[in-house]
Amino acid sequence: MAGAATFGVGSLIAGGLPAFAQAEQSTQPQPANLPLHRKIPGSEKSLPTIGLGSWITFNVGHDPVLLQNCTDVMAAFFAAGGQMIDSSPMYGSSQATIGHGLAALEVERSTVFAADKLWTSDETGGAAQIAETAQNWGLRQFDLLQVHNMLDWENQFPVLQGMKAQGALDYVGITTSHGRRHELMAVIMQREPLDFIQVTYNPLDRDVENRILPIAQDRNIAVIINRPFQGGQLTRALRNAPLPGIAQDYGAQSWAQLILKYIVSHPAVTCAIPATTRVDHVRENMAAISPISDEMNTRLPEGKERHAIANAIGDAL
Ligand SMILES: NC(=O)c1ccc[n+]([C@@H]2O[C@H](COP(=O)([O-])OP(=O)(O)OC[C@H]3O[C@@H](n4cnc5c(N)ncnc54)[C@H](OP(=O)(O)O)[C@@H]3O)[C@@H](O)[C@H]2O)c1
Repeated sequence: MAGAATFGVGSLIAGGLPAFAQAEQSTQPQPANLPLHRKIPGSEKSLPTIGLGSWITFNVGHDPVLLQNCTDVMAAFFAAGGQMIDSSPMYGSSQATIGHGLAALEVERSTVFAADKLWTSDETGGAAQIAETAQNWGLRQFDLLQVHNMLDWENQFPVLQGMKAQGALDYVGITTSHGRRHELMAVIMQREPLDFIQVTYNPLDRDVENRILPIAQDRNIAVIINRPFQGGQLTRALRNAPLPGIAQDYGAQSWAQLILKYIVSHPAVTCAIPATTRVDHVRENMAAISPISDEMNTRLPEGKERHAIANAIGDAL
């Protein structure tokens, strides 16, 4: 496995407060509250089914207040048992924000599943970009590196494969979003030895159900889901709509939780990565996959039940 033992100095502080705040004040998840995990196909490792995105939300530059806020979000994420954080050289200062948070919280290397991306079409630029990315995070190596948006994938994917072969990387992947270039992704999935793909999937963007997710299951490829809330558009549109009765069947206390339960209940999905600037939202998102109390129904929907949830969300818009 990758990397150094801890990141920097400091302590794991649970910041922010209300709503979903009260259950998690300790620095580590309690065993009874461990979130739902799913195995990475073809690997002994499993991951919590909710991770943390960083596009836009963590691009806060050097502003100390905003940096502290992101650190608080990360603290709440780890305290709830979260592991995967996803970033990219495309996301402005987000990588450095993650590095700041990991150091401030003195997170143990084994606690975080570090997922980043290679985003270049420069034939010789990959190694330098990965080195800079690692420096921003403050770690020696990543768990997962993905070819961002499959950019120049014919040249960049072998760079990542080479790193994996040398033991400098655990997993390799490719990404897309917004339903783009699924045909190409399907071809690569059937041809190349991929560990992970990353795609957009939510109750309104379901194209991957037809071809991409079945191929992932068939080929033992782990699946990360980006844009679970359509960049926040979906949760904003539902904000004032009453939660449907079906939400109770799965212990969903908010639209966000119902959406996340819909997503992670697909058997091909390994991990969804909602991004947020808010401590209460990260707790709410992690609570969607965590047994908070004995009364809470944490059953996940299956088959027709999943369609009923998608329909209920469509009807509420
Ligand atoms: N091609 C690619 O590789 C690619 C493309 C797109 C995204 N990604 C990755 O996927 C991650 C997620 O996608 P995204 O950031 O585009 O969109 P997203 O996660 O669908 O939406 C983020 C928005 O959702 C809101 N939100 C989060 N939790 C909420 C909750 N519990 N209730 C209400 N609103 C909530 C956030 O607002 P608040 O701040 O107010 O909580 C934020 O504005 C990215 O950050 C990135 O890491 C990768």
